[in-house]
Amino acid sequence: MTDSAPELQPRGPAISRRRVLQTTAAVVALDTLPPTPPAAAQPVPATATATIKLRVNGAPHALTVDPRQSLLDVLREKLDLPGTKKGCNQGACGACTVLLDGKRIVSCLTLAAMHDGAELTTIEGLAKGDALHPLQAAFIEHDGLQCGFCTPGQIVSGVACIAEGHAGSPEEVKFWMSGNICRCGAYPGIVAAVTEIAGRG
Ligand code: FES
Ligand code: FES
Repeated sequence: MTDSAPELQPRGPAISRRRVLQTTAAVVALDTLPPTPPAAAQPVPATATATIKLRVNGAPHALTVDPRQSLLDVLREKLDLPGTKKGCNQGACGACTVLLDGKRIVSCLTLAAMHDGAELTTIEGLAKGDALHPLQAAFIEHDGLQCGFCTPGQIVSGVACIAEGHAGSPEEVKFWMSGNICRCGAYPGIVAAVTEIAGRG
């Protein structure tokens, strides 16, 4: 046994001074490398188009559309049917409601290219010549509008609501028309108009 203090050993693998200097030199060299040049710009492919056929308010149309175009934009901008309104453009207000194969949809949330061969009805297709659709006349009679911006969507939605059998009472109309927002608050007239026309059978 010896009196001398035990020799302290560092924990973990020993790292030599040479190794530390080599590593530091490598890091410094990396830091001074010129930046990697950006990848060469890729040519942007030409936008594809889609050819579709739609029957809108009874009239056939053959259209070439941008596959990213909403049905709403095609109706308003390509077919010149501005009666269908663009409110929120995100499915929250119902101003853009149209009938697609007899069912109501918000046309801002669907792509026109997905509906080749579809039959559409917009607000422009409800009147017969000078004769208003009964629901259009009822909206006037019941003061179901103020600024009128939501009105095309309300009326198209109301037509579908009645056809679905969801307009048996004011409460039912309020529930099944709740996706159609009116910022003017013309709801009492809207509900009265839809309920009255539904009641005529
Ligand atoms: Fe389509 Fe508002 S514009 S739901
Ligand atoms: Fe103005 Fe409904 S009448 S938003």
